[in-house]
Amino acid sequence: MARSSNHMPEVQFRRLEEGDLPLMKRWLEDPDVAPWYGSDSTEHAALRAEYGDKIRGERRDRSFIIQIDGGDAGYIQCYVIDDHADYARQMRVDQGAVGIDLFIGERWARNRGYGAVVIRAFLEQIVFGKLQAEVAIIAPDPGNARAIRAYEKIGFTWRKTVHIVDEESAANTGAEYVMRLTCEDFRSRDHVS
Ligand SMILES: CC(C)(COP(=O)(O)OP(=O)(O)OC[C@H]1O[C@@H](n2cnc3c(N)ncnc32)[C@H](O)[C@@H]1OP(=O)(O)O)[C@@H](O)C(=O)NCCC(=O)NCCS
Repeated sequence: MARSSNHMPEVQFRRLEEGDLPLMKRWLEDPDVAPWYGSDSTEHAALRAEYGDKIRGERRDRSFIIQIDGGDAGYIQCYVIDDHADYARQMRVDQGAVGIDLFIGERWARNRGYGAVVIRAFLEQIVFGKLQAEVAIIAPDPGNARAIRAYEKIGFTWRKTVHIVDEESAANTGAEYVMRLTCEDFRSRDHVS
């Protein structure tokens, strides 16, 4: 498995735009991403339907392209779980908790320790920063050992495994390994990895 030197990448987040959809398609079809990041279809129309309202800012959900050392490298989104009533009812997590989903789409940026760096920056700037959430939730597939390890490095801990039924999206149905991190615990950790 490729590991980096001690390079600490520079991470930035820019808002997802309509012009990013072809890039999203390529990333979502990557065989190292597709098994772990649900997507009903990667056809342009389907991606427009899925991401259009986020791009237009019609929801409180926030969607960003992850930039690593100045290059587009992946996608990250966050949302107040209570805004998604059906999901919230099944998840039963803290009121006001913010959920995070992501993938690193570029092969060169995976398995180098960058995922943990990206999420730490996202928590600092967006989730515990701008949104002032008290609790962050991340819920990988229970079989996604790499993601679970990356999230544990940041301080997320397993709370429960929930089987989610999404009647609108087959891709978002399945077991979720629910991991939780409070702002207080995040801030009290020494984030040198
Ligand atoms: C999950 C993801 C964000 C993690 O980012 P990353 O930069 O690749 O991960 P990191 O290198 O920071 O950390 C991965 C850790 O898992 C370990 N790991 C890698 N493959 C593993 C495996 N098969 N089993 C167990 N651990 C594994 C690595 O050794 C590393 O731990 P270490 O630093 O203690 O050695 C990224 O790999 C990704 O986007 N994957 C594809 C889509 C996906 O799974 N998205 C997440 C949906 S919840």
